[in-house]
Formats: sequence, structure tokens, C-alpha cells
Amino acid sequence: MARSDTLASTTDISPHESADPSVLRSAALPHQAYTDDNEWRRERDEVIAETWAGLGFSIDIPTAGYVCPVTFMGLPLLMARDQAGRARVFHNVCRHRGMQLVAEPGEAGLMIRCAYHKWGYDLTGQLKTTPNIGGMGVHQVDHFDCAHHALTSVLCEELMGIVFINLSGEAPTLSEHLAPLLSRWRDLAGIHFDRELTADSSAFGAMEIALRSNYKLAVENYCEAYHLPFVHPDLNTYSPLDSHYNLIVEPLASGQGTCVYDLTRGGNQPLPQFSGWDTDRLKTAEYLSLYPNILLGIQADHFFVILLMPEAVDVTRERLQFMYSSPEASTEAYEERRQSLYEAWNSVFAEDVSVVEGMQIGRGSPAFDGGLFTPLMDLPTHHFHQWFLARRRASGTQGATPLTA
Ligand SMILES: [Fe+2]
Repeated sequence: MARSDTLASTTDISPHESADPSVLRSAALPHQAYTDDNEWRRERDEVIAETWAGLGFSIDIPTAGYVCPVTFMGLPLLMARDQAGRARVFHNVCRHRGMQLVAEPGEAGLMIRCAYHKWGYDLTGQLKTTPNIGGMGVHQVDHFDCAHHALTSVLCEELMGIVFINLSGEAPTLSEHLAPLLSRWRDLAGIHFDRELTADSSAFGAMEIALRSNYKLAVENYCEAYHLPFVHPDLNTYSPLDSHYNLIVEPLASGQGTCVYDLTRGGNQPLPQFSGWDTDRLKTAEYLSLYPNILLGIQADHFFVILLMPEAVDVTRERLQFMYSSPEASTEAYEERRQSLYEAWNSVFAEDVSVVEGMQIGRGSPAFDGGLFTPLMDLPTHHFHQWFLARRRASGTQGATPLTA
């Protein structure tokens, strides 16, 4: 079978060479990780809070003064871009009476004002105005210092066009966290993700898919190519299963790659390619689940990110955003290629919906106990489960029910 050369910092596993029979006996996540509301919140507070998760896209807050409310696993949060251009994330709650501060995305200008009593915060979250706090026309009072009542911040950083959050505030820096992945793709594509991506804001630049399933099932489905011939027959004609290889990027991601991706499929000219892409690997494309809630796809002429937004234990909203190597890709000259990419990926991801939702339905059955991992094709999924279980068990919070497989 065809196989990409091994790239640095990663375990590339050829499905035909590195079967691991031990995974057949491994624990998988039990039902409650997909169906239990209480477990869903514990997962947020004990697993997701300890790492970096995707909250939104950088273009959700395109300019200084822009704000965008996002509910993340029940938490009302607010993304904002401050006057220095830096992304900020706050708990979207006024410090006065706990009113949701911002209900709709848009320009806040220099001040975010609560609709209830018009308390105002600047874009760094500092409380600046408290109108009538001491009675009509009296805007300041003794013993009340605005400096003590800033919005509650959430640690955030931007990379790859994504606004990441770390709810605990205790994770290593984002670039440290992502180092194994960044170095892998720097070797493949020469990409510097902090400055080389242009998000497509056109009609072909983004899509959303509603899923009646836990977000982890979308992660798991994205980890493997095993289902490709049966669920994606068209994709399998130009990127067949036997040209895929498993990928595990320790400790934070797993998925698959292919070495036959056709950039000129359908007679379209490729978009401008990433300038540092290895010309010997133009047909390489890689698809990684970046734990816990981000799916990434990289090809020589386009990059996409899917944020999995968990809205309930069994409801997820997928947000896909295309990104390119330069603004030139967004011009009219490339519209045909962008439309064709949009349609091709839209159809692939729509094909996945019924199987992901079918796995959620299956988790309503007491006859199922977490399932099996096959020793070749499910290695990336197995890796995700081990990542998750290790963190869930390690959290050991008092009073929490142990997650047993
Ligand atoms: Fe799929």
C-alpha cells in the first residue's frame, strides 16, 4: 500500500504493519460519558477545563471593539477583541446583578454596557462606569472601587484562526501545548499558524451542521478512515481507504492521513498553496482530532477547522471554517475552486451525520458496554479514549462518581 514517509514528532502507523491486538481488550468510554447530564458537566469542569478547548474563530471577533457571546457547555462566555487587537474571553455576566452582559454579537465600541443598569466595562473587562450607583446623578460612592469588580476573565489565546480557552487557567501556554502538532505541520507545510492563515468570510467559507449526538462521537468518527468506503463512497474514489495511514500526535491528537489527495479534482485550479509545503508531498492531506473538541484538515491549498460546540450531552453544533494561505485565495479568480471545495466537504460531513447520530442512539441500549476497538483501524479512536479516561480518572474530585469502563 502507499504510505507517507514518517514525519517528525509523530507516530505514523501503517494500518497494515502495526496492529496492536492489546487494544481489543482495552476499556472504552461507557454510556454515561455520552448520555449523563451530570457527567457532561463534570467532564467540562474536570477534563476540558484542564486543557485548551476551541471556543470560536478569530473572525468571530474581526475588529477591535467587537464582541461575540458564546455558550460553552452551559457556561455563558463572551469573546471580545480589545483596542490593542488582542482576543479576550470573559464570563458573560455583569458583576452587579448577574445579568447576561451581551446577548448578540456586534460592535461594542469602547465600552460593553449591561442592558439592565448600564454598568460599563472596557474591552479589557475593567469596570469603568456605574451610573447612578449612589442615587440619580451620583455615579461613584465611597467604599466601592471599580478596580475590584472587573469581568471575570477566562484564559484565552489565538492560533490557527481559533480562539482557544483554558477554563482552569493552569494549562501550559498554547504554543507549548500544541508544539507536537505545530512542529509536525511545520515540517510538512512550512506553516507558521500564528500569521499565515486567511479565513474565508465568503458564502463558501463556513458551514454549520447540527448533530443529535455527544460531541465525542464526532471526534471518534473523525479519528478513523475505516468507515470511508461505506459512508463516503465518492470520497473513497479519490482518497481511498488503502491510501490512508493512522496518525497519533502524542499526547494531544489522533486521526488519519492520505497520500493521494487530488488538488485538481474536477478540473479546478488549486488555490494558492502554502509556500513552505513540501513539493514531494503535494498529495498529502491530514485529518486530526485535536482533543477535546477540534477537528482539523490540512491540504496543500486549504486548511479547515471544525469546532464541536457541545450544547447538551447529546446535542452538538459543528462549525466549519475554511482558511487559506493568502488573501488572494478569496478573490473571484478562485471562486470556482472554493465553491467546489465547499460542496465536496459539505457532502462528506453530511454523510457522517447519520452514523454519528446512530452511535448516540446505540448508547441508549443496556446491551452495549462501550464497544470494541479493532487492532488496526481503531487505533486513533483508542488513543482518544485513553487520553480521556486518564484525565477523567485522574481528576478524582471529591464527590464525583468514578467513570468506569
Ligand atoms: Fe466520515
